[in-house]
Amino acid sequence: MYDTKVLQCNSEGIEKAAELLKVGETVAIPTETVYGLAANALDEKAVKRIFEVKGRPQDNPLIVHISDISMWGKLVKEITPDALKLAESFWPGPLTMILPKSDLVPDTTTAGMDSVAVRMPSHEGARTIIAASGLPIAAPSANLSGLPSPTSAEHCVKDLSGKIPLIIDGGHCTVGIESTVVSLSGEPIVLRPGAITPEMLSAALGKEVGISHTAVEPMAAGEKPLSPGMKYRHYAPKAKLVLVESTAEAFAELLNNSPEGTYGLIFENDSKLMTRPCIAYGKEHDAESQAREVFAALRELDDSGAQLIYARCPDRDEASLGVFNRMLRAAAFEVIKL
Ligand code: TXA
Ligand code: MG
Repeated sequence: MYDTKVLQCNSEGIEKAAELLKVGETVAIPTETVYGLAANALDEKAVKRIFEVKGRPQDNPLIVHISDISMWGKLVKEITPDALKLAESFWPGPLTMILPKSDLVPDTTTAGMDSVAVRMPSHEGARTIIAASGLPIAAPSANLSGLPSPTSAEHCVKDLSGKIPLIIDGGHCTVGIESTVVSLSGEPIVLRPGAITPEMLSAALGKEVGISHTAVEPMAAGEKPLSPGMKYRHYAPKAKLVLVESTAEAFAELLNNSPEGTYGLIFENDSKLMTRPCIAYGKEHDAESQAREVFAALRELDDSGAQLIYARCPDRDEASLGVFNRMLRAAAFEVIKL
């Protein structure tokens, strides 16, 4: 058991975090996407501790975070021309790139895969912590496995208090959903949608970037996932959650006539139509605000005692694909159209 400390993301906090990382400890740190549970990516013992703290399945590989492009070369076999183009366009930022790994990266970090996922976050504090530690930093989202990703230090405290020595408080994450994951081991394909859209990647590369069908569909029975993370039901709300594709008015009609214990997961400005308890996640047709608030809203619903949740559906355009993907998974892919 640790007496978990929470420090601000200032020079004192950054120094303490780097000190702990250097001696093989785990620390929760802010990034622009979600909070990460950080440890030295090259230290098998430290990485094992990440899996232990989160209760993460052993076969789900971690993302390695760097503060400078010069740290990348020794983690991978080769930085391909496509990878370099994407780094120039989107790093630092919410993009993770998968390439064949070098021998330096332990199998524990990549869960036995021969590729490694690398990201350079745009969050200044995150990069300063990584730079101060002088280490490539493995960091999955800092939630307990099966819970929504944390977008504030409070979420980390709730999940990890007593399990790690330090949480760095950098305020609310500005993006709010995890990074876009693109595999460059073969033809470029998006494995997990995020703020950097397939269109943006295609434009930067001057060629089509595919997207895994699992972004919007469940995996087929017996299908071998391109990314082990795809096979886990990341987050299942305590209540049954159903996505509803409709106007605000039709949604209100459904929600207001549903049994006691039903909650609405709605957009700002919808609430005047609703007579049932509701929690909002961002504005209608505004994927950025929805992404920023979706995980906090799901955590709040879990705490509310809701038995059934009707949720307004994000748009289906490219910019909304990230938030749509997280909502689909929370709904176990159940969508109704009114
Ligand atoms: O925004 C983010 O990416 C956050 C912050 C902390 O940086 N991190 C994050 O990590 O979301 P995590 O562990 O929750 O998600 C990593 C995803 C998983 O779905 C995992 O299966 C996949 O990336 N992944 C990692 N390495 C991989 C590899 N070598 N091949 C295929 N998929 C990989
Ligand atoms: Mg995660």
